[in-house]
Amino acid sequence: MKEKSGFFQVLGINRDDKKNLQEIAHKIGISTKSLLFYNDNGILPPSNELVIIAAFFGINQFQIMIGMGVYSQELKDLLSQRASEIAKDITVPETPKLENHKAVFRTTLGELFEGDCLSLMAGMQSNSVDLVFADPPFNLSKLYPSNMDDNVSSVEYIGWTEQWLSECIRILKPGGSLFLWNLPKWNTYFSEFLNHRLSFRHWISVDIKYSLPISSKLYPSHYSLLYYVKQEKPSVFKPDRLKMDTCPHCFKELRDYGGYKDKMNPKGINMADVWYDIPPVRHAKYKKRKDANELSIKLLDRIIEMASNEGDVIFDPFGGAGTTYLVAELKKRRWIGIELGPTEIIVDRLVNKAEELEYLNQYRDNYNKLFPDKIKKERLKRMLWTSDSFIKSEADFILEMKLV
Ligand SMILES: C[S@@+](CC[C@H](N)C(=O)[O-])C[C@H]1O[C@@H](n2cnc3c(N)ncnc32)[C@H](O)[C@@H]1O
Repeated sequence: MKEKSGFFQVLGINRDDKKNLQEIAHKIGISTKSLLFYNDNGILPPSNELVIIAAFFGINQFQIMIGMGVYSQELKDLLSQRASEIAKDITVPETPKLENHKAVFRTTLGELFEGDCLSLMAGMQSNSVDLVFADPPFNLSKLYPSNMDDNVSSVEYIGWTEQWLSECIRILKPGGSLFLWNLPKWNTYFSEFLNHRLSFRHWISVDIKYSLPISSKLYPSHYSLLYYVKQEKPSVFKPDRLKMDTCPHCFKELRDYGGYKDKMNPKGINMADVWYDIPPVRHAKYKKRKDANELSIKLLDRIIEMASNEGDVIFDPFGGAGTTYLVAELKKRRWIGIELGPTEIIVDRLVNKAEELEYLNQYRDNYNKLFPDKIKKERLKRMLWTSDSFIKSEADFILEMKLV
């Protein structure tokens, strides 16, 4: 990842020259802390400060905005009017060098590579992948076995993400789906980027508590799963239907469906864009790699089922413990995988894939029926309604017809 744009860069300030920074801060009456905050987070100073900064450096405010990559609609319009003039002075950056990648592991459905996803993608054909799922590092100073730097500036992190997202978009087939898993904070930036390149489908909130409560903030309780499609419509969209929530003790429904019980689809409830039923993978028994932010196979099963068919090609640029590749393999999808760090754990998981098939089947047993078999049995014992309660007998139907 390389520093590309930024507040200090456009002003010609060296971030490491603390003395110079303090002098500037003193002269313009804006604290060093604020200046560092604007630079490190790519945040445009408020308009009153912007006027002072621009005047002090003898440039105009739009130069700062362009330098920082922060575009108001007004600025976009102005640049757009002068597009041909500006573009003449811009050279297209070189495409990343393609390294010769050799698969470290193969199955009949997929190939696993070791290395940098950007360099792998450079050698992949445009419009060749049906589904992309990406769960990148979140820039939270986590120590990965690959020793990658997970603590870079926001500007750098956003720039790097846009780079690999652009490649994912290029290799995605028209009608193909792209899912991006990240913290809500980062996905606000990436949705802005994706909105101009793909069609927005959903911001899915996945209810998982991922840290301890922080006293100065709300308790972070959801991950953001962005769902986009290349061009207008997805080629595949077949979300599972979910079971009705029932009390684990009395088996009564937890929500009152009033007079609508008979109208409920026996195949289950429509998938919503808030998911409450994805378990975190915390327990050592289920966790395949102690140091990986491993995702639940239930999450990948849901995404893969919703947006791909058997035989489709799935690409995940950030292997981790290989959850995407394992689920793709179990669901008979083709897949392409890569991981910067060690890949032994992924290979091990794929070799022993049968172990996890059992869990996957347990999850799938609960889909596409309003009441899974076990719950239906318990409800019948307690004389509670099930979907079958509303199936009319032929005699009832004939009688009803006569009355009409
Ligand atoms: C959050 S983990 C992915 C976890 C995965 N979804 C799972 O369920 O097991 C992100 C992974 O991306 C890898 N990574 C980081 N930068 C990479 C790059 N440029 N190319 C390939 N892999 C990379 C890290 O080493 C880490 O293992």
